[in-house]
Formats: sequence, structure tokens, C-alpha cells
Amino acid sequence: MSTASAPGKVILFGEHAVVYGRPALAVPVMQVQADAQADWVTNEHVGEFWADSVLVQAPDIGLFSPLSRLLADQPPHPLGAVISATLQCLGIVRPSAALTVTVTSTIPVASGLGSGAAVSVAIIRALAGLFERPLTDEQVNQIAYDIEKLHHGTPSGIDNTVITYAKPVYFVRGEPIQPFDVARPFTLLIADTGISAPTRESVADVRKLWQADKSRWEAVFDQVAEIVQKARKAIESGKTARLGPLMDANHALLQEMTVSSPQLDRLVVAAKTSGADGAKLSGGGRGGNMIALVQSERAESVASALKAAGAKNTILTDIR
Ligand code: PMV
Repeated sequence: MSTASAPGKVILFGEHAVVYGRPALAVPVMQVQADAQADWVTNEHVGEFWADSVLVQAPDIGLFSPLSRLLADQPPHPLGAVISATLQCLGIVRPSAALTVTVTSTIPVASGLGSGAAVSVAIIRALAGLFERPLTDEQVNQIAYDIEKLHHGTPSGIDNTVITYAKPVYFVRGEPIQPFDVARPFTLLIADTGISAPTRESVADVRKLWQADKSRWEAVFDQVAEIVQKARKAIESGKTARLGPLMDANHALLQEMTVSSPQLDRLVVAAKTSGADGAKLSGGGRGGNMIALVQSERAESVASALKAAGAKNTILTDIR
């Protein structure tokens, strides 16, 4: 048997502009994680078609299926696609006995916490462990990115990257990742609007805006890039108090890009008026999560204010 886990993630700064080559900062959220277990099943009938002999179980979403059925979906189910891509990468043409892959996750689905990429990374590592063929982080990241592409159109790759490396990263599309150090830990409250909003749609809408007026939106993305650079410096030098106003400024630019929503804005205002030092939406927007920078002693009262303003769930996390 082999097991592996992968954390969730939040984007601190730079979402959407990152699709246009600007940098973004993202951090792992260790308080939520996906777990995968790969196991041999002895005395089990090994089907004619090898993929009939791999059973995939995800009790959280009521999924119990042979791999072959997941691969028959169009596009293939992400759990099936990642298992198949991993076996291929490991050089396993046909497992010689029946296999089960079991996945559980505490990461809310479709809320911008990277549940899809976390599940992929956990499965890839569990399978590599079972077959005793270790993969490099680069290989894990590549498979997870291929699966993201299958299901999210034109992802920048930030989710799979921060989740694979499980470190804060400075990310520029197509460039080698740059993990960075957090000189002084800081605390974030993540609040879920409870609204699942496909990132694919908000990304497509921003693209329409950009196509209609490239010079205006390139200038907006440049402003985001400047915020990201300042934020990275603040985090690396321990000047975390500077992050609050930078989050507010980034949120205003995301509002301009039309990717906020009344619910997200209500949570941002609630966080700020109850004592957060800064707040913004995080990820694709329109729904999903917002993040607020809080002093730990204020975390409880800000969390109550967020709940009163409609948050379905809050997660308190230290970034270090
Ligand atoms: O919703 P999330 O956390 O998957 O974030 C999407 C981030 C975007 O910049 C909007 C898209 C991308 O591919 O980077």
C-alpha cells in the first residue's frame, strides 16, 4: 500500500493578470488536504482490459468505478485521466494484478482552493510510491498540469505548481518556479462564498475585455504586477503590515476586471470593518473564496463577521 497527501492553495496576489504573463504569488494551505491511497487487491479478478482491474474510489463524491468507465467519459473523468497519465509516465503498460486507488479530500470543490490539482498530485505520488518508481517534482507537476489543461481550458499552471512544491511560490507562466521565503509568518482567514463559479468562465470574460481594448487592460495587468512585486518584497523582508493595503488595491483591480461579485464584495467589506488589515477575492472570482489578512487576536471576531455576512465556511491559516 502507498499513501500520499497534497495541500490546498490560495492565490495571494496576481490572479487573472497571471494569465497574461504577469507574476502571481500563491501559498499552500496545509489546513486542508487531499489524500490518496494506492493498493494491490489480491484474489481479485483481473479483467480482460487492464483498466477494468483498477478500481477508483472517492467516497466524498460517491464515486466507485472501474478506471475503464472513467476513461470512457468525454473528456475523461479527471481521476481517470490522472491515473492513466501516471501509469503511462511510470512505464506501467498493464498492472499485473488488480489495483485500487482511493481518494479523500477536505478541500472544498470548485472554490479556488485547488482541490483538483491537490487530488491529482496526491494520486500521482501514491502510484509512484506503490510501483517504487519515484518521480521528480517536475514530473509530478507536469502530469498535474496536463490534467488541469484537460479540464480548465488555458490554466496558467499556478495551482499544480504551488501544490506540487507545497511552498509559497512566485509564479510567472512558462518560467521556472521561484519558491520564496516568508520572513515573518502572517495569518489569513479564508472565507468561502459557497458559490461555485467556473474559473474557465471568468478567465474567458477577462479575455473578451482584453481583446476589446488591449492597451487599457495591459495597463491594468501592469498595475497588478507592481502590486505583486511589492508584496513579495514585503513578505521576504517581514514587513507584513504592508500587505493589507496591497490586498485592497489588488481587489479594486479585480473588481475592474469584473471578476468580483456582490457576495465577494460583501465579505471583503465585512472583513475590513471587523478589523482585518486587508482583503481581496482569491482565485477565479465571481464566487469561491476571499482572503483577509488578520492579526491572530482579531481572527475570531473577523470570522464571526464573515459568517454574518454570508460566508459558508472560514479557514484560519498561518502562512510561513
Ligand atoms: O480559481 P483558481 O484558484 O483556480 O484560480 C484561477 C487563477 C486564474 O489566474 C484566474 C486563472 C489561472 O489559470 O491562473
